[in-house]
Amino acid sequence: MTSTVLNSARTMVALDNMDLSTMHAFLESLPKECPWVKVGLEQYLAHGKTLINTIHDKYEKRIFLDLKLHDIPNTVAKSLGSLSDLPVEFITVHLGGGKAMLEAVQKTRNEKMDHVKILGVSFLTSLDKLDLKEVFGITNTDEAFKRLFNLALITGTQGVVCSPFELPLIKESEKERNKVLTKVCPGIRFNDEITGGGLGDQKRVLNPHEAFGLGADFLVMGRSLTQANDIQARINELNARSSLK
Ligand code: C5P
Repeated sequence: MTSTVLNSARTMVALDNMDLSTMHAFLESLPKECPWVKVGLEQYLAHGKTLINTIHDKYEKRIFLDLKLHDIPNTVAKSLGSLSDLPVEFITVHLGGGKAMLEAVQKTRNEKMDHVKILGVSFLTSLDKLDLKEVFGITNTDEAFKRLFNLALITGTQGVVCSPFELPLIKESEKERNKVLTKVCPGIRFNDEITGGGLGDQKRVLNPHEAFGLGADFLVMGRSLTQANDIQARINELNARSSLK
């Protein structure tokens, strides 16, 4: 069965580059049509569990905790377990941690925190093809991405964070394994930002409608919303076309 959902209800607002008082002011003003926020390592290390509980209890937002855990299996599993008391619904780990790490993550998730979906991060988008060759000796990047997506699929990882440009590759892997992952995409800009050169440090971007059209389940948007002159106008732009889900 399909139903119509607002695009803003599937867009996670990244709370980056803000001090605590700016973040509170932003959360205070963030409309109800945007129920999701993403908290990254920077904010979590600075403000910890108190911040997460406040975002949930006071501002009634749903939370994606983007910590990108990566260590030996036992350490990552224990670290994940120490987050089990938090009201968060998504947590990231690096797929490059390997099969045993991802399996250990799922064991902890299933035993202690099955309200959380684990999202696997493939290669960081800050690494370009030259970096991938230099660091890992990778020459066929599509194949390398597919290997990581397959690891997510065979270990029961619930989803992945990926560039919208990788969505067709993931769909191939999903089809081969007859499984579906939750796909969360950063690297999104509005059309006028793309034509006007407002990409910031993102190299390859799509607009929200293109990314949903390619099969993203959620988008992550930071500066396009947090630094918008008129955030309500941007939300209206997001919702101008609704998506079937
Ligand atoms: O401001 P902007 O929309 O570029 O923010 C994107 C957010 O998504 C940031 O929090 C960034 O760390 C995150 N992200 C990303 N690329 C990835 C994974 C996460 O841009 N591959």
